[in-house]
Amino acid sequence: MAIPTETVYGLAANALNENAVTKIFKVKNRPTFDPLIVHTDNIEKIQNFVTEISPEATLLAQHFWAGALTLLLPKKTIIPDLVTSGSPLVAIRIPNHPLTLALLKNLAFPLAAPSANPFGYISPTTAQHVAMQLGDKIPYILDGGECALGLESTIVGFENGIPTIYRKGGISVEAIEKIIGKVQVKTFSTSNPQAPGMLKSHYAPGIPLILGEIEKLIPKFENNKIGILSFQKYFSQIPKNQQINLSPSGNLEEAAKNLFAAMRQLDQMNLDIILTELLPEKELGRAINDRLRRAAVQ
Ligand code: TXA
Ligand code: MG
Repeated sequence: MAIPTETVYGLAANALNENAVTKIFKVKNRPTFDPLIVHTDNIEKIQNFVTEISPEATLLAQHFWAGALTLLLPKKTIIPDLVTSGSPLVAIRIPNHPLTLALLKNLAFPLAAPSANPFGYISPTTAQHVAMQLGDKIPYILDGGECALGLESTIVGFENGIPTIYRKGGISVEAIEKIIGKVQVKTFSTSNPQAPGMLKSHYAPGIPLILGEIEKLIPKFENNKIGILSFQKYFSQIPKNQQINLSPSGNLEEAAKNLFAAMRQLDQMNLDIILTELLPEKELGRAINDRLRRAAVQ
């Protein structure tokens, strides 16, 4: 079934049951080398799934859970290898959504859940997004309204003890560094294809999305029906109904919340192409830019 979280909707199944987990990979058409996040509702339960939680991991957990933080921790054998794609580490998160927390509290098992979209497409931030793409493949969608954050969780691991961010997300690098000091950021590595959300082309709409300077791109695509995905600005050369402004006031939280829905909307408007540009490279802007780069035509 699909579950709401504050980041994006998840496609959930019993994380301790291999048959259930297999269904997730099938429905999403997701390769089994891309591991899943395990969701639960309290830190005590996590002791059953991992062998150790380091002091730094504990600090982050205390500050950011329930929330958009995923920690990579050494797994116990109770977590099937299928969930971690054979890795000795399991990704764990306590999501912050009242419906899903209530559900997790009442279940005797944790929920493995990737974002509830077909592999490679834009993550869903409403129950309707899930229904449109996976509605006929899954038995149930728990409708928890629009996701408050709209960007996936930030994934943090400890590489030889060094805190490392593997996916920029709903909790900024700056916020994490305030708690545990300097971290390294390794969000794309071709030498480590096992490592996640790092697949270079991801979060992509069906029509080409071009990343650059919108003002200069417009004349280059004058023979195309252009859609614009912008931040703060509108462009007088293009009809206003073909433009989505992520935050007219320049607010990064608002932009994050609107990003995926805006990409979907433009994708459905019978346009030829979407032109977009990077946001300020700070706070949530860094995670938004990461998604735009992965969604863009390379
Ligand atoms: O906000 C989120 O994280 C959402 C909600 C539903 O919780 N989930 C989500 O899941 O974005 P997904 O599967 O779309 O992305 C999770 C990323 C993947 O890129 C995966 O490769 C990585 O987490 N991941 C999961 N388990 C891992 C592991 N054991 N080691 C390294 N990376 C892992
Ligand atoms: Mg995903």
